[in-house]
Order: sequence, then structure tokens, then C-alpha cells
Amino acid sequence: MKRIFLICAIALSGAFVINAQNRLIVDADQGKETISKHIYGHFSEHLGHCIYGGIWVGENSTIPNTRGIRNDVVKALKDLQIPNLRWPGGCFADEYHWMDGIGPRDKRPKMINTHWGGVVEDNSFGTHEFLDLCEQLGCEPYISGNLGSGSVEEMSKWVEYITFDGESPMANLRKQNGREKPWKVKFWGVGNESWGCGGNMTAETYSDQYRRYATYCRDYGNNRLYKIACGASDFDYNWTETVIKNIGNRMNGLSLHYYTVPKSWQDKGSATQFDEAEYFTTIQKTLRMNELLTQHSTIMDRYDPQKRIGLITDEWGVWYNVEPGTNPGFLYQQNTLRDAIVAALNFNIFNAHCDRVKMANIAQIVNVLQSVILTDNEKMVLTPTYWAFYLYKVHQDATLLPVNLTCGKYGVQNATPPAFEPPAGFPGGRQQGGQIDVISASASKDASGKIHITLVNVDPSKAQTLETELRGATVKKITGKALTSAKLQDFNSFDNPETVGVKEFKDFKLQNGKISVNLPSKSVVLLEIE
Ligand code: AHR
Repeated sequence: MKRIFLICAIALSGAFVINAQNRLIVDADQGKETISKHIYGHFSEHLGHCIYGGIWVGENSTIPNTRGIRNDVVKALKDLQIPNLRWPGGCFADEYHWMDGIGPRDKRPKMINTHWGGVVEDNSFGTHEFLDLCEQLGCEPYISGNLGSGSVEEMSKWVEYITFDGESPMANLRKQNGREKPWKVKFWGVGNESWGCGGNMTAETYSDQYRRYATYCRDYGNNRLYKIACGASDFDYNWTETVIKNIGNRMNGLSLHYYTVPKSWQDKGSATQFDEAEYFTTIQKTLRMNELLTQHSTIMDRYDPQKRIGLITDEWGVWYNVEPGTNPGFLYQQNTLRDAIVAALNFNIFNAHCDRVKMANIAQIVNVLQSVILTDNEKMVLTPTYWAFYLYKVHQDATLLPVNLTCGKYGVQNATPPAFEPPAGFPGGRQQGGQIDVISASASKDASGKIHITLVNVDPSKAQTLETELRGATVKKITGKALTSAKLQDFNSFDNPETVGVKEFKDFKLQNGKISVNLPSKSVVLLEIE
């Protein structure tokens, strides 16, 4: 039986820790499921300075670029082994007309980006530029097609334009525009948030529309589309049930969107100014991703017990108030150590659900919500969330290892309860009590046989010792890396770009085949075991 050692006194802040012996067992010879590399995916949208300024600067820019795309951003993303990139939205996708973004740039029509700040979109970054970006990054494109305001014909022709190798009106047009050979595109979204900004449809209407649009998205040559249907927001289990029942046999993936909003949608909270209670609420809310994946997967299991259909969490991350003085429509926010912890917790959750979750895309890659990169003209900074992705890339396409964790609890007495609650009585729907596990863990074995364990200590003030036992493997060598900083509120600025980063970590001991790890407070730790 687990021995509870001591319950700490409640501090003035209301924070408390229930100490217990923290123990992790990893079954190193029992892995079955592969953690798809696409779980570590990204999302780019025509929103604020994500595309324009963050990725695209144009060929005549003084900022070093390759065919208009920033070299520094491409290099940083390649270092993350970015597996895929979703584009062009988000809400923007359902008012994007792809034909406006091809051909000579000076002849492309301009439009208003009604969702994001009402600014002029000059369409200088279109299909060719996006697919060039993906080629430079060595990642797979994920295109989000317009079902909300575009036609069936338009979506059908986009697929033909990109992927058809032969004589056809769209393939000929592509060739005229300078691209002889088709591109390969696998991931294809059929509408985004069709229950909201993508057309305000009911699940039934969307199902019928999906049938029409998806029918005409053809597989040309050996290009095979992986069609992703618009899925639910948050706790909308009815949406999942309805679309999987109606069109499950026509889709390869079903999306899910869940944002971590610390306070409320009216006042989301600041990205950098927060107290411990708000930190706790942020973590508590982000952990609900586990409940969401469990519940949506349970519904999917009823209709798809073979798990053929992937659950695609193609928008997730923290959403705060915009930085003071910035355009409210641009959703620009800073990124602190808190966000790195949020990212790492979500990664551990996605890994644990990798039998169903086949892709996830954090929103958004540069200069918007939980971005991995921020830019200011020629300057670029890597955020704490970048460093969380950096640590976790070891899990890409590795075999998930079962973990059994027993650990203490962390809580804050006066934390605001989560703003959104699913209906009372919904199974597993309500948060029980105000405390969370102080440690989160995930483990995998890669193709070379190396084992990686990723650990998070959410406690902002206290280190945690974790006794780790690896069953079914002999430990010869351990190395470690840690991501932490002096304060949860620390961030990387253009003047101080290295406040939060990854350092070598050696605070562990191997004794009698067990590893005792001393996890620093508010940290993410990676152990590599050979
Ligand atoms: O990420 C910002 C917006 O959030 C996306 O455009 C939309 O899909 C979601 O509502």
C-alpha cells in the first residue's frame, strides 16, 4: 500500500502539497503502440504576424530568406524535426479562396481578413509558397479546405491542382505557374470549426456537407488523401457521436479543438502576469485534455473499435489576453515557463492516447497563441514552448512504454474553479477536488533501443524525488536534460533570449538497478537510457 509520508501545512498563498513516495515503474519490454511523430505537429494561419513577418518576408527582404521564406525560422523548425504543418487556418481557412493565391504575385487579388483584425491579405503567400515552405522544412503539409464559404468544385480543383500528374485544366495551370511535377499531399481537412466560424452548422448538416465535399476530393495517381473531418470543440460529445455515426466510414481522421484558457473567454488572463492560483488553474484546465481524449475516444470506439480513424487534435494550446498595446485581432502573446510545462503535460497525455490520437497541432507556430517562435523584424526568439518540443522530439515514431506512476498531489486552496463545466452527471465530466498529481511521466523506446522518459514536476516551489524502476531492461548509461528557470513567469525576450532553455541534467543516481531522480521544482526533465 502506498505510504503517505506527510501532509504539508497550507502556506499563506493557499498552495499545498501532499507528499507521498513518488514511484514510477516503466515496463521497458512491453511496448505495443507507436507514438506517431505527427503528434508533434504545428499549425500556421493567416493571422497577425504568423505568416507575414513570421514566415514570409518576400524575396526582396533584407532578412535572409530562401524564395521569400525566412532562413532563421526554417532552421529553428528543422532542429525540432517538425513533422507536419497545418495551413491556411483555422477560421481563415473557411474564407480562403486558393485561386487568389496562385500566379504572379503582383496580379493576385487582395482580400480582407475579416476574422483577424480586418487587415488586407494580399495573397502573396499561397499554395506554391506554402508547399515550398514544407519542402524546405522536410515536413508533411496538412491543408485545411474551405467548406464554409467555398464550393465543392473549388475544393475538388485544389486537390487536382496540387496532386494530379497528367493533362488536366488544373494540372496545366499549375505547370503554367512554374511547378511541373505535382506535390504529394496526404492530410486534407474538410472544413474547420464548421459548428462555429466555419459555417455555424449543426452536426447533421455538416455530415451531409462533408459527404459532398469529400466525395470530390480525389486520390490522383499514388497520392492518397487522409481526409480529416471537422470534429468537436471541447466537451461537445454530441458532435463527435453524430459525425462519426453519419460519416465515420468516409473519413480517416476526426479533429478536436481544445484551448487552455486560464480565466474566462472575456478575460483570459495575462501570458506573463499571473499568481500561483492562476498557474494552478491553468495546469488543472490543461490536464482536462486527458478527460477529453478519453471521452471522445470512448465514443469513437463504439463506431470504430478497430481504431481506423485517428483523433486529430489539430488546435490546442494556451490562449491568453493579447500583449498590451498589440492589435487585439492578431492574438499575439508571450510565452513563459508555465507554457513549457503546459506543452509537456499535453505531450505526455497525447503519448498515452497514441492508440487513437494520430496527430496534434499546436496553435500557432509563430507570433500568435502558444508559439514556438516569436519574431520582430529581423530578430527571432525561441520560446519556452519551443524547448519543450525540443526535449520531446525523441518520442517521435518511438514505441510507447507502459508507465505506472504513484505520486503526491499539488493544489491551491483559493484557485478559481474552471470556467467551463460539462453538464452535471456527465461521466468523468467534472473536476473532483482542487488537487492534481505533482508529477507527470511518459516513456518510449526508439528504433535504436534507447529509452526516453519525460517527466514534469508541476510544483512551482519544491523539488520532487522520483524512484524509477525499469522492468525488462538493463541500464548501462543515463544522460539527462532539464528545462526550467528561476520563476514560472520567466520568458525569452529579444533582449534576453536565453532566460528559459534546456541544460544538461545530472541530478539522478543509479542504485541497485533503480534510478532515483531529483526533479527540480517547475521543470521538465528528459532522461535518455541506454
Ligand atoms: O487559433 C485561433 C482560432 O481558434 C482558429 O482560427 C480557430 O479555428 C479557433 O477558433
